[in-house]
Amino acid sequence: MRGLKLLLVVLLLAGCAQPPPKDDSLYRDLGERAGINRIVEGMLLNIAHDPRIVERFRKIDIQRLRDKLVEQFCVEAGGPCVYTGDTMAESHKGQNVSRSDFNALVEDLIAAMDTQGIPVPVQNRLIARLAPMRGEVIQH
Ligand code: HEM
Repeated sequence: MRGLKLLLVVLLLAGCAQPPPKDDSLYRDLGERAGINRIVEGMLLNIAHDPRIVERFRKIDIQRLRDKLVEQFCVEAGGPCVYTGDTMAESHKGQNVSRSDFNALVEDLIAAMDTQGIPVPVQNRLIARLAPMRGEVIQH
């Protein structure tokens, strides 16, 4: 059921670029910088145990990825951060990321938020910020 709802959110929001959030309520609801750190660490840990996508992360600088993800989630949640990483198109170019890879990563993120006790409506607000990036991340 969760998978179905997630799929619907992803489908509905794919392709709609979003302006930055009006306030920092999502940032606060995610537990600010420390909470976002825990979510990203948890997501990367889940990815490390996810046979569907773990191979893709074997040869990269995981520390850099963690730092850039924290910055990016912070910005997307309306927090006081600056994203200093590459664009989504640049960083995923040539990786042949598929829709199912994308959904697997989002599932690993949701599982990390579950572990952190983030309420589902708050989870959905973060997912809704990331879903529009799908078009840049996956291969066409
Ligand atoms: C909403 C979905 C996603 C978001 C928000 C996202 C975000 C990011 C960010 C912020 C970076 C770092 C860019 C930098 O180093 O400057 C990155 C890199 C990377 N992403 Fe994603 N990503 C997403 C989906 C995926 C998926 C589905 C995969 C593969 C299953 C993937 C694989 C990678 C890999 C391997 C890198 C490292 C590339 C490198 O260092 O050469 N990403 N991503």
